[in-house]
Amino acid sequence: MGSEMNIRDKIKDNILEKLLARRGEHVSGEELAHELAVSRATIWKHIQALRTEGYMIESSTNLGYSLVSSPDRLAPAEIKSGLKTSVIGRDIRYYRETESTNIIAREIAGSVEEGTVVIAESQTGGRGRLGRKWISPEGGIWLSIIIKPKIQPLYASRITFLAGISVAKTMRSYGLPAKIKWPNDVLINGKKVCGILTEIEAEIDQIEYCVVGIGIDANVDTESFPEEIRDTSTSLKKELGGEIDRVGFVQRLLAEFEALYLEFQEDGFSSILEQWRNISATIGEWVKITTQTRTIYGEAIGVDSEGALILETGEGKLEKIVAGNCEHLRRL
Ligand code: BTN
Repeated sequence: MGSEMNIRDKIKDNILEKLLARRGEHVSGEELAHELAVSRATIWKHIQALRTEGYMIESSTNLGYSLVSSPDRLAPAEIKSGLKTSVIGRDIRYYRETESTNIIAREIAGSVEEGTVVIAESQTGGRGRLGRKWISPEGGIWLSIIIKPKIQPLYASRITFLAGISVAKTMRSYGLPAKIKWPNDVLINGKKVCGILTEIEAEIDQIEYCVVGIGIDANVDTESFPEEIRDTSTSLKKELGGEIDRVGFVQRLLAEFEALYLEFQEDGFSSILEQWRNISATIGEWVKITTQTRTIYGEAIGVDSEGALILETGEGKLEKIVAGNCEHLRRL
């Protein structure tokens, strides 16, 4: 069972980091042992463990070790090598399997740096919006970003908006026509490929921390989806016609997220909102909104500065929806 990285895993990850930094070259066992302050036998043991996990590592008696290829794993060392961010993802907590990365992120948020990312290969109790379950098998990208923005709790949805844009922009960089359904589902060709669950801890007038949970059906076979979502959901693998390099995707996503987060801190919400409107699949659509107390039909004509959806109902009345489930209706 996966658990948080222990010291042994850390040594293994450090070895991997060093081999990745010098890909194509050989690094001697002696050098690794010296830099990590362990014995050469320990290095050898960890090299063997990495091989068992699917890393192809060539070894030569005179030259040392050289990384030839890596398995499809979201190892922190892999993500960090080539990561172009200064805050987001500098600290990555990795789990082979965990209940929910949002739960872990909430547990550690008080004691870690802003930008810490919790990532898992699979989740046993993934959480979705509105109390739903989130199925999270291997092959997906299940991660939570911890940030500490100096904003009032009332504006937390702004973070969800910028997270949605960062996911959609990353997918677009692969040529996929990603759009956002209010408030924060990312769709490709009308089908959901990503969900976002933002959770906050706050005082009355200031957020203490914000956990942005992002779930992406990356290399997941759509046939394995539960029947109730099979027609309405898709995966990157299906849309691209082949598997995606998840490490590369996560690196691009964290960089997009950081760029938008900086833009938000420097220029405020208006440019984020403008980008959201341009990527939105909902504006201009006829929608059915289900809230805890009622169902409303209408045309989505905009979102306000708090991220509420503005609907024009059949009677020409304007309604503001703060939270709820949104369905796009087919026009006759
Ligand atoms: C939705 O209902 O659309 C939101 C789904 C959010 C799922 C992600 S996966 C990573 C993080 N951990 C969780 O338990 N949930 C979020």
